[in-house]
Amino acid sequence: MDRPRRLRTTPAMRALVSETRIHPRDLVLPLFIKEGAREPIAISSMPGVVQHSEASLADAVRAAADAGLGGVMLFGVPLVRDEAGSGAIEPDGILNRAIRIAKEAAEGRTVVMADVCLDEFTSHGHCGIVTPDGTVDNDATNALYCAMAVEQAKAGVDVVAPSGMMDGQVAEIRSALDAAGYEHVSILAYSAKYASAFFGPFREAVESQLDGDRRTYQMDPANAREGLRETDFDLLEGADMVMVKPAMSYLDVLRDVSQRSSVPVAAYQVSGEYAMIEAAAANGWIDRTGAIMESLTSIKRAGADIVLTYWALEVAPRL
Ligand code: PBG
Repeated sequence: MDRPRRLRTTPAMRALVSETRIHPRDLVLPLFIKEGAREPIAISSMPGVVQHSEASLADAVRAAADAGLGGVMLFGVPLVRDEAGSGAIEPDGILNRAIRIAKEAAEGRTVVMADVCLDEFTSHGHCGIVTPDGTVDNDATNALYCAMAVEQAKAGVDVVAPSGMMDGQVAEIRSALDAAGYEHVSILAYSAKYASAFFGPFREAVESQLDGDRRTYQMDPANAREGLRETDFDLLEGADMVMVKPAMSYLDVLRDVSQRSSVPVAAYQVSGEYAMIEAAAANGWIDRTGAIMESLTSIKRAGADIVLTYWALEVAPRL
């Protein structure tokens, strides 16, 4: 008889034959920084996650470097928003300040990445310029993404991460960075990003009020093939890394992307995925640690090289 149970007999045996391992370097910690905050501010729908002050951001980046994390991903929460999201492009805007603080704290020990998207900075909450008829203007938005990416590069960012799902955004940002002398700055493209209910708690994290939804630019959850098409475009446009987002409901897409990609593949375990596990665990309905580790393992098993997760700091010492 075949007895596969032999390889499950002891913890040491199971560790020996484990097919999927997670290393702290695979993990990226998303961090929020709130303009003007004196203290870290709790985010109620994401227990354990905060909006950082400038001082606590530096501490968090040092902790990430000490834990051996692969990187941090920065999101800014500005005090003032307008139609065009102009705070994103101000050299001293909150996200650009955060990049300078994070770069200094990181001392080259962990990679500093930043979100290139306007939704945190616009009054209407959309990821780009909204025209009078209510559509998001693709090409006008790309021009702003280019300016935003160049400001981030000036602030010293290692990796820019365009997440707005505008057509051609990777190619345009690549040429803008190169033209400004930042050919060494990498692009992590949010390639297959879906219009997902699992981004819900993120809205509280960045205090964004969204008019309507994002279904004219983020992808339909029904479409897997289209995710591959988006990934192919981003690879051709010069993405250094590609991403699938959210992670757990899109493991099939992640698997297909990882088999096809010639560059490292990231997956983002988003705010709603975090909140679901925290909420169920707080009610005593699931084992918290077990669920966290199983979720991360499944994302790596599906083919992610890099996982963005709000639990990065917590799990790193266990790996
Ligand atoms: C766009 C952006 C979003 C997230 C990351 N980048 C929000 C959105 O597209 O609606 C969501 C991350 C999360 O939910 O954890 N700036």
